[in-house]
Amino acid sequence: MSEEGEKVGIVVISYGSRAAAVIDAFCRSEDYDARVYVADKQRNPFNVAHAEKHVVIPDLDVGKICDFVEANKDALDFGICCPEKPIIAGLRDLVERTTGVPMICPTKQYAIEVSKAAQRQLIENCCPEANPRFKVFHRSAYTHAGEAKDAVWSFLDEIGNEVAVKPDRPAAGKGVGVWGDHFTTREQLFDHFWSIFESGSDVLIEEKLVGEESSFQAFCDGHRLVALPDTRDYKRAFDADLGPNTGGMGSYKDREDWLPFLSHQDREEEERLVQKLFTALRGDGENEGLRGIPFYVAFMHTREGAKILEINSRPGDPEIQNILPVLENDFVDLCFRMIHGTLSRVECAKHATVVTYAVPMDYGDFRRTYSGDRKVDLSRAYALKERYGDDLRIYPGSMELRADGSTYALGSRTVCTVGIGQTIEEAREKSLEGIRAIDGALWNRWDVGARHYIERSIRRMKELRGN
Ligand code: AMP
Ligand code: GLY
Repeated sequence: MSEEGEKVGIVVISYGSRAAAVIDAFCRSEDYDARVYVADKQRNPFNVAHAEKHVVIPDLDVGKICDFVEANKDALDFGICCPEKPIIAGLRDLVERTTGVPMICPTKQYAIEVSKAAQRQLIENCCPEANPRFKVFHRSAYTHAGEAKDAVWSFLDEIGNEVAVKPDRPAAGKGVGVWGDHFTTREQLFDHFWSIFESGSDVLIEEKLVGEESSFQAFCDGHRLVALPDTRDYKRAFDADLGPNTGGMGSYKDREDWLPFLSHQDREEEERLVQKLFTALRGDGENEGLRGIPFYVAFMHTREGAKILEINSRPGDPEIQNILPVLENDFVDLCFRMIHGTLSRVECAKHATVVTYAVPMDYGDFRRTYSGDRKVDLSRAYALKERYGDDLRIYPGSMELRADGSTYALGSRTVCTVGIGQTIEEAREKSLEGIRAIDGALWNRWDVGARHYIERSIRRMKELRGN
C-alpha cells in the first residue's frame, strides 16, 4: 500500500480461505489504501487481523449482512461476496436496493448453481456438445419408491449403468454419487438416488464422464468476460483420488493459462463454450446482473471433447487462491472496473501455484469421530516467510480465534497454504513446507501437484485421445 493511496472501503462476505485470499489481495493494493469490512462466518484469525470492522454472522443471512452494510455504508465503496449461499439468497439485489453499495457477485437471477437441472437446460440451449446425456427426476412425480425405481431403471436401460446421480440443489459437490466409485449395483445406486429425494431435492442422473478435470474461472463486468488461468482441483478426500468428494483438498496452476495435460487449443475450446453461455445470458448489449465471477465452470475433458460438470456463480475454493496471489493487476482497480463496466485485460505472473488444504480429523471421513483437542497454531508456518517471502501464503479458513487468544479448527477445511514457484514442483514443495509447519491435529493430501499425479493425467488424456 502506498502512503498516498486513495482510501477505499470494501465489504467482504467471507466463508473459507477463499475470503482470506481476497482480503489479502485488497490489502496488498499499491494504488489504494483498502479498508476491509468483513461479514464472516466466524472469527477467522486472518480476517480479524486485517479488518477495519469485523462482524460474525454464522448463517450468513442476507438480511443481517445487509444491516452491516447499511450501518457502514458511508465508508464503503463496494462489496464482494465469496460464498454462493448469500448470492443464491439475493444478497446483491437486497444490498444494492437498500444501501446503494455496489456488490461484486451476480444477482439472484444469475445464481446459476441454484438448480443443476436448469444449468443442464441452459447448456443444452447454448452448447449441447458440452452436455452429457441426462434426465431430471422430479420428487413430486412419484408417489412411492417402487415407482421411482422403475423410472430410474428404465433410464439406466437406455444409457447404461455408468452414471452420476446428483441432487438438483447445491450440495457443495458432496451429494454426487458416481457409478464404480460410490456404488456398483443398481440397488446401491437407487439407495443414493432415494436419499436425495428424501433430503427434499429433485435428482439428476447423467452419463458418467470419464476424463481429466479442469476448473475455469473468469471475471465479468456485464459487457465482457475475461478468463483467468485454468486450475486443477483435487475434489476427492484422499491421495490417488480415493474417498468421498469434498469441497476441494487442494489445486494447482501451471505457468501458462492451460494445464499440463491440456493444450492451448483445449483452453480456447473452454473459452468458446463459456462465451456461448455468457452471450446467451447477456444478450447483445450488457447485463450488469452477471458481474463478478458468474461462471466458475468445472470441465471434464473426455474422449469426445470438453464437457461441463457444473457451474457456480462465485470464485472456486481453493481455485481462486491459485490466482489472486499471482494477479498482476491491482485487485481493487480490477473490482472498480467490474463495477464501472470497463474491465479489460487481466494479467497473471507466469508462475505455477499449488494450494494444499489442511483439514480436521473428522473431515472427509478420515476419522469417523474426533474428540481430541482442536487447537491449531500457525505461527511456525507464518515464520517460513523469512525463507520464502511472498512465495508462501497461509490462508485460514474454517478456524476460529477465541477469547483465550488461541485459534481452533472448526468443522470444514481449516487452512490452506499457497506455494508459488517457477514450476509446479517448486510451488508444491513450498506449499507442503507450510503444511508441515502447522501445529495441530489436521491432515491433508500429499499429492496435490505431485509429478506422478500430473504424469498420470497426461497419460490418461493421451489414451483417451488415442495418441
Ligand atoms: P459437481 O458438484 O456436479 O461438480 O460434482 C462433484 C464431482 O463429482 C465432480 O467434480 C466430479 O468429480 C464428479 N462428477 C459429477 N458429475 C459427474 C459426471 N457426470 N461424471 C463423472 N463424474 C462426475
Ligand atoms: N473447488 C470446487 C468449488 O469451488 O466449487
